[in-house]
Amino acid sequence: MTLTVLGIETSCDETAAAVVRLGGPGGVEVLSNVVLSQIADHAPFGGVVPEIAARAHVETIDAVAAQAMAGAGVGLSDLDGVAATAGPGLVGGVMVGLSFAKAVSLARGLPLIAVNHLEGHALSVRLTQAVAYPFLLLLVSGGHCQLLDVAGVGACKRLGTTIDDAAGEAFDKIGAALGLPYPGGPNLERLAQGGDAARFALPRALAGRQGCDFSFSGLKTAAARIAERLTSETDRRDLAAAVQTAIARQLAERTAVAMESYAASHEGHGPRFVVAGGVAANRAVRKALEALCAAHGFAFAAPPLAYCTDNAAMIALAGAERLAAGMTDGLDAVARPRWPLDEAAARLNPSHIPGRKGAKA
Ligand code: KG4
Ligand code: ZN
Repeated sequence: MTLTVLGIETSCDETAAAVVRLGGPGGVEVLSNVVLSQIADHAPFGGVVPEIAARAHVETIDAVAAQAMAGAGVGLSDLDGVAATAGPGLVGGVMVGLSFAKAVSLARGLPLIAVNHLEGHALSVRLTQAVAYPFLLLLVSGGHCQLLDVAGVGACKRLGTTIDDAAGEAFDKIGAALGLPYPGGPNLERLAQGGDAARFALPRALAGRQGCDFSFSGLKTAAARIAERLTSETDRRDLAAAVQTAIARQLAERTAVAMESYAASHEGHGPRFVVAGGVAANRAVRKALEALCAAHGFAFAAPPLAYCTDNAAMIALAGAERLAAGMTDGLDAVARPRWPLDEAAARLNPSHIPGRKGAKA
């Protein structure tokens, strides 16, 4: 039996819709994947403006979803379910996508699946590769930096998280300090090409510490201070290279700690490691993690670039896997600005909660 699911993603600055089919001869088939970026709308402000994002989602969601359906060559009667990101994210945008999905669900009598955006990223590798559960996941994006033991849908255990900024946030803020346009990550990677990473000494947060939490705020402050007194293009290139190397190194160092405990508790199968989220697009980061996997005997996998950054195919897949497992939601499903993937771990350590109640407060 196959399951065909329409997925909707509106939690940040991309309005996205996709149709994914699960259970066919190829396992997972992405029938369409439409992503409309709002980067140009937010660029003048140097970051995502929530109100502008929500309005842009309202204006474009109908057309983006229609394009995804047409591109897939399916009609609403071919769908088995409709999935939407229900959080975490900018709540105005999340409400737009979730309400749209609820309307389709109600009008067509289709099951609704309220998907955690982080679960979408966690499963995204399975859109193109048959990576079996369980696997160790490093989820690195603009809003998140976490190590997770992924045993299946609804079964993610958090091993570590950032105590301050996410890695993508560090890339974006340091990029801004270097005068780069938003988003800083890909622009900083371009600037770092050919730079001398050894020229500037940057702090090594949490090195040698037990556990596998992350911290990037010290690096961010140090790099911003250095950026203030740079004069030449070579200076900027060298600092960008040093920052990229420092972020890649910390990601690899903390992942190495997680690999040791993961391997000890998952004996009997060749361990698998997956990196996902926007920062997984960074080549230096990927290289450092691939080397780590080779050294620790983990099989390495990462989604293709288009599925690393925000997209709706990963939401449709998480929806389809949930639907297959009988996990659906009612029309009273709420949009959640904060929604930890591993709620038990988040409750145990509230300092890990981002935002007003978290470590930055
Ligand atoms: O997963 P994503 O699209 O959105 C979130 O859920 O946050 O990730 C976006 C983040 C941004 O911080 C962006 O700067 C970063 O991923 N990013 C990169 C690269 N491409 C995207 N960071 C470093 N190098 C890249 N090539
Ligand atoms: Zn994301």
